[in-house]
Amino acid sequence: MSEPIDLAAFPQDFLWGTATAAYQIEGAVAEDGRAPSIWDTFSHTPGKIANDDNGDVACDHYHRWPEDIGLMRRLGVNAYRLSVAWPRVVPGGTGPVNPEGLAFYDELVDALLEAGITPSVTLYHWDLPQALQDRGGWPERETAFAFAEYASAVAARLGDRVKLWATLNEPSCSAWIGHLEGKMAPGWTDLGAAVRASSHLLLGHGLATQAIRAAAPGAQVGIVNNLSTVYPATDRPEDLAAARRHDGHVNRWWLDPVHGRGFPADMVETYGVEPPLGDDDLATVAAPLDWLGLNYYFPAYVADDPEGPAPFARSVRREGVPRTGMDWEIDASGIETLLLRLTEEYGARKLYVTENGSAFPDVVRPDGSVDDPERQDYLERHLAACASAVRRGAPLAGYFAWSLLDNFEWAYGYDKRFGLVHVDYRTQVRTIKGSGRRYADIVRVHRGQGRRAA
Ligand code: FCB
Repeated sequence: MSEPIDLAAFPQDFLWGTATAAYQIEGAVAEDGRAPSIWDTFSHTPGKIANDDNGDVACDHYHRWPEDIGLMRRLGVNAYRLSVAWPRVVPGGTGPVNPEGLAFYDELVDALLEAGITPSVTLYHWDLPQALQDRGGWPERETAFAFAEYASAVAARLGDRVKLWATLNEPSCSAWIGHLEGKMAPGWTDLGAAVRASSHLLLGHGLATQAIRAAAPGAQVGIVNNLSTVYPATDRPEDLAAARRHDGHVNRWWLDPVHGRGFPADMVETYGVEPPLGDDDLATVAAPLDWLGLNYYFPAYVADDPEGPAPFARSVRREGVPRTGMDWEIDASGIETLLLRLTEEYGARKLYVTENGSAFPDVVRPDGSVDDPERQDYLERHLAACASAVRRGAPLAGYFAWSLLDNFEWAYGYDKRFGLVHVDYRTQVRTIKGSGRRYADIVRVHRGQGRRAA
């Protein structure tokens, strides 16, 4: 079932990476001065996470990172997207920087560079210090300034070696899933608070962009959004309008302000909540970026849902289509469509696929090996679609597979495995899966043997 991938489409200096996030892999939640984040609180609230799992230990990456860099070397990747845990570096959210927190990432970055792996650092992958939540969290304007202060501290320490910086990971999840749907930390269901959170996340992005550039000259700063292709479930006018609203909710709300277009007026009307940002704030949000990150997983088919929560559009499950273990529809053409949309509609000059991957229920064979043909197929199809986007003009500079390791999949706990490397959570034994071996082959062919088809 090997999908041909036009590897010659990718530039020679393409970044081939894997991605992770701090709370999903690190564990060591109470070590070396780390304070709780909203995800510690949320995951320790009974009933919030499948099996009541939490990230207390996760992949124990905080102690096993040398082994994990060894795995990256075996995969042959030349890049790694990691996130820094704010509650390790500034445990109180604002105020004193914790030297031990910074030292962990400092050592990690050195070891990555020594292994020939370019680090790409995301400053916020959802783990807001609980101390800031106690002061109101993202719905409060102060949180945006606290974020910039923390970003400055990290950039000042790592910026001599780290060039690729992302401010936020998937702010739409923080705002909408965290404050409107309540299925992620902090678990609120309040539209007004969600719109305020979305505004302050974007303001925080703009302020942090300035802070990173001031602290680390030469930094290349971007933002990571999870975007979706959106289709109406039927051709009824109501569903067409619902699809437009859903597109506004998950895509345009996050892209337009960053590109100097302000918040989409149709969505402000849909929410009935005015975002609390003035013109100066919007100018800060729109600081030109060096790159845009795309996380892509699945398309959405949407129907009108006047009684539902904003944006009054409901995703419809289509029958008879291939799906992952998350029940997410598989449609590789979406990654191509979105890369081209960012290029054509938003004028992106540099793009990274900062996440893309799939969960399936893996089976460990008696000999310890894990073959995962479905994940391998997902990977191949999406890489083929990326190559096609590049041929059609998308300035794609790298691809980061989600994820290096099986890890704590937020509200789904440890049940859902996205790794190219299997983790036995009882023993912490890591095993490269078939998909990981296939990724290594692809990377090797592209990097080593002069860009021919794999
Ligand atoms: C994305 C998250 C990432 C991971 C994948 C499956 O939304 O950024 O942490 O959970 O989904």
